[in-house]
Amino acid sequence: MKIRDLKKEDILLLSKIVSLNYSKKYGENSKKEIEASFENKIIPPKYLVAEEKGKIFGFAGYIQSWMDYSVYNIFWVNVHPDYQKQNIGSKLVKEVIKKIKSIKGDYKAKMILLTTTKPKFYSERFGFEIMSSLGKDEVLMSLKF
Ligand SMILES: CC(C)(COP(=O)(O)OP(=O)(O)OC[C@H]1O[C@@H](n2cnc3c(N)ncnc32)[C@H](O)[C@@H]1OP(=O)(O)O)[C@@H](O)C(=O)NCCC(=O)NCCS
Repeated sequence: MKIRDLKKEDILLLSKIVSLNYSKKYGENSKKEIEASFENKIIPPKYLVAEEKGKIFGFAGYIQSWMDYSVYNIFWVNVHPDYQKQNIGSKLVKEVIKKIKSIKGDYKAKMILLTTTKPKFYSERFGFEIMSSLGKDEVLMSLKF
């Protein structure tokens, strides 16, 4: 399994994974958000993709925050429902954190923020801490460097 940067031809497949995990509407939204990675944005979203032998199993996105250039957000961590619980999500998040930590200079990361309904996944493996409840099962989590 390799974790690599997004290619344009991945977009439709990745949005299909989101449709399967959430809904058709979320799938359509994610398609536009992933496409933004190739547009000329001052702060573009970036995505890593889990692939083996040409087959795509999942992906994860991250972006620098407009709130503060040293804060980054992780989002759309999605593994195809048929391939969950095989460590793919963990590999993706590990690589995203590595990428964010490798940023040097003015944009060096001080913190990662994310929201999730699966806090255990992020706290046990990566040390994220719950900052606040956002209602229902959703929480805001942070990882401070
Ligand atoms: C959340 C999500 C990304 C996790 O991806 P994943 O590939 O299933 O994650 P992992 O396999 O690394 O870990 C998930 C669980 O499988 C277990 N696991 C990993 N490898 C395993 C293996 N070989 N055998 C048995 N269990 C295993 C892990 O221990 C972990 O257990 P836990 O949930 O009790 O902590 C995935 O479930 C998903 O896409 N869900 C839908 C979208 C979503 O909710 N995204 C999160 C938004 S923040």
